[in-house]
This record gives sequence, structure tokens and C-alpha cells, in this order.
Amino acid sequence: MAGVANQNILLGVTGGIAAYKSVELARLLVKGGARVRVVMTEAACRFVSPLTFQAVTANPVRTQLFDEAHEAAMGHIELARWADQMIIAPASADFMARMAQGLADDLLSTLYLASTASVTVAPAMNRRMWRHPAVQHNLSLLEDRGIRILGPETGEQACGDTGIGRMSEPSEIFAALDVAAGSGLFAGRKVLITAGPTHEPFDPVRFIGNRSSGKMGFAVAQAFVREGAEVLLVSGPVQLATPAGVQRINVQTALQMREAVFDNIQAVDIFVACAAVADYRPESPRENKIKKTDDRLELNLLRNPDILAEVAALEKGPFTLGFAAETENLAENARAKLSKKKLDMLAANRVGDDLGFESDDNSLLVLWPNGEKQLPLQNKQQLAHALITLLEQQYRDAGRGD
Ligand SMILES: Cc1cc2nc3c(=O)[nH]c(=O)nc-3n(C[C@H](O)[C@H](O)[C@H](O)COP(=O)(O)O)c2cc1C
Repeated sequence: MAGVANQNILLGVTGGIAAYKSVELARLLVKGGARVRVVMTEAACRFVSPLTFQAVTANPVRTQLFDEAHEAAMGHIELARWADQMIIAPASADFMARMAQGLADDLLSTLYLASTASVTVAPAMNRRMWRHPAVQHNLSLLEDRGIRILGPETGEQACGDTGIGRMSEPSEIFAALDVAAGSGLFAGRKVLITAGPTHEPFDPVRFIGNRSSGKMGFAVAQAFVREGAEVLLVSGPVQLATPAGVQRINVQTALQMREAVFDNIQAVDIFVACAAVADYRPESPRENKIKKTDDRLELNLLRNPDILAEVAALEKGPFTLGFAAETENLAENARAKLSKKKLDMLAANRVGDDLGFESDDNSLLVLWPNGEKQLPLQNKQQLAHALITLLEQQYRDAGRGD
């Protein structure tokens, strides 16, 4: 069944005026067929009564960690396991700081740490608070951890100011949770994804690498998990947290990446090659650190294996989606790569300047043998969702979806 219907949604309410709007969010979720449990911070209870949420959700509301009746059976762990999705709305500046620091000083913050559910945060606060570097720093820590941030919006605020800081409307939060819940498009499918750069050493402390951040591959992994797939992510060296539900193998070099891929490829239905694998590696890495004695240093480079082309050439291999990063002639080069490597699909993006590798937003030109579609500039999570939706159509058209 699609969307939040039949999902277990944990709604965390923290201490801001927008707490009253979350009553409407709870109502929309219940109406949408979700099972909703509400946890409120002590401050949230100053704004809205737990009784209101209890009446709307038909479930008792929890506000205390040290609750003898519930904790007789470790109720907080049971609640953390129960949740499919966690939404914190409104998220106060204070609560975002506690999440960022990993504090567990009340029930809601403890649940956040104990749960593997996907987490969405809808911040709400005064515009100056929102702009404060401390809040922005916490925000980026949460984003880097794969937490979805919705809003805040610009408009009139309860304090009389006008600016950014209003909580997103309950209907928008509901819609985002509904999309994030997925509809089981890839239930029962096994997907192997490569992500990030590879580092090719030429002595024990130095390597040749590239600027791939891994963000796109990690977003694709997260999108597939949300759609019910079993996901194995083979990642080069990146500074990213593993999305909930994804199994991860870390590698450094192209040869290690190839080995990890071929150790697992047999059982896989779909292969997505998002990694920026180094085309060349130093021929003979030195055993000891190279000293700067000479004016010139020459390195001989050897071609690395083309993992994507090898997988695409497998007899009865998986459906393959490759990525191409180009600095010029995007469409032409991408179509040539699609047919030369005999891929099922290719997602091409322009890189260089501020585009592509390290940014949070991207656009993609997606090609398949008899068609193509341009996916417009958007954040990598949204882009990943659009990409795998396109992939599902091609996968089905290729007769693989049965
Ligand atoms: C009237 C009033 C309104 C407040 N509104 C907000 C708000 O919109 N956003 C916010 O981050 N903090 C707001 N605060 C401050 C928080 O309630 C305070 O930081 C509290 O410690 C948050 O606790 P919690 O994160 O455990 O819910 C408000 C405080 C008061 C007294």
C-alpha cells in the first residue's frame, strides 16, 4: 500500500508556538491511515496539552523518560523499534542542538538515538535564531547525517517579525512523509550501489583521488531502501553516515571496489555505478614515504579496470545504471558511453565550477537506448527519488520487473 497508510509514525513535538500546528499534522496522518504515537518534550507541554494529541491519535501520549509504568518493559526501546518514520515538528533550536550533539536527556532525544527509522525535522523559530551560526552548524550536522529537513518557510512570525522561521504547513509535512514512505516499488529487489571516489596510493601517505563527495550515491541508496529494496553500498572514502537500512562495505582503491562488487554481484537485480572510480592508479606504489630530494617526480600510471563495463558485459547480469560526469558535450558523450558500455541506463551530469561533485543540488540527463529525460536542478535526495522512479519504468519495460 502506498504512502503513510499502515506506517508507524512517531511524531515528536518540541517547545515552540508552532506546536499547535502539529495537532493538525497528527490528524492528517491518522486520516491518511498511519498509526501515530506522539512524544512531547516538557517544553512542548507548555504550549499544547498532551490530551489534545491523545484525543486526535487515540493513543496515549508519552512525555517522560523515567516513566515507571512504561519502562517496566523498556518502553522507550520498544517505541524506537516500532517507528517506521520519525517526524520532529516543530523542532526547536534547542532540540536540534541536542540531536546534533547526541544528547539523550529526555524521552524524545533518547528515542532519536535508539531508532533506525528515517527522521524528518521541521524546524520553527524566530528568524534571528534560525540565522544564528550555531543553529546553522547544527542544521548542517543533521543534514550530513541523512536527516530530511523540511522548511522553515518565510512569512509572518508569532513574535511579530517577518522572515524565515515559520514551520512548514502540516499539509506539506504530511505530503513529504507520504512520499518518503515510498510505495514498495522495489520490494524484494537487491540493489548494489557504488559511491564516492577511490584513492589510489603512490606511497603510504599520499594518493591520487578526485572530488566526489559520495552524496549522490548515498541519496540513491536511501531512495532505494525507502522503496523497499535490499541495498548494499560499496563506498570509497567519504565523510557520510550510512543511511538507515543500508548495508555498507568500505573500500579505498578501484581494485578493492571491483573485488567488493564481484564478490556480491551474483545475487543482485540492479547495479548502480555512482562511484567516481579513478581511471588510473600508480603502477608501483612506494613502500616508504617519498622524500623531496629531486626537482622532478615521475609517476607511471596503469589503467584501472572498468567495473561498470565488466558488470554490463556479464551474461545474465543485473540491470545496470551508470553515471557519467562530463565537463563538455554532455549529451553526446553520455549517449556514446551508454552504447559503448551496453548499459541499460545512464545518468549524466555536468561537473566543474560549482556543479556536481561536492554540492547538495544537481540535475541529471538520464538516457536509455530509445529515450531520455532531463531531471531539473533539485536537491540530491529529491533527484535520487526521481531517478529511481524512471529506472523502475525502464526495469519493467525491459521485462525485469516480473
Ligand atoms: C513563548 C515562547 C515561545 C517559544 N518559541 C520557540 C520557537 O518557536 N522555537 C524555538 O526554537 N524555541 C522557542 N522557544 C524556546 C523553547 O521553548 C526553549 O528553548 C525550550 O527549552 C525548548 O525545549 P525543548 O527543545 O526540549 O522542547 C519559545 C519559548 C517561549 C517562552
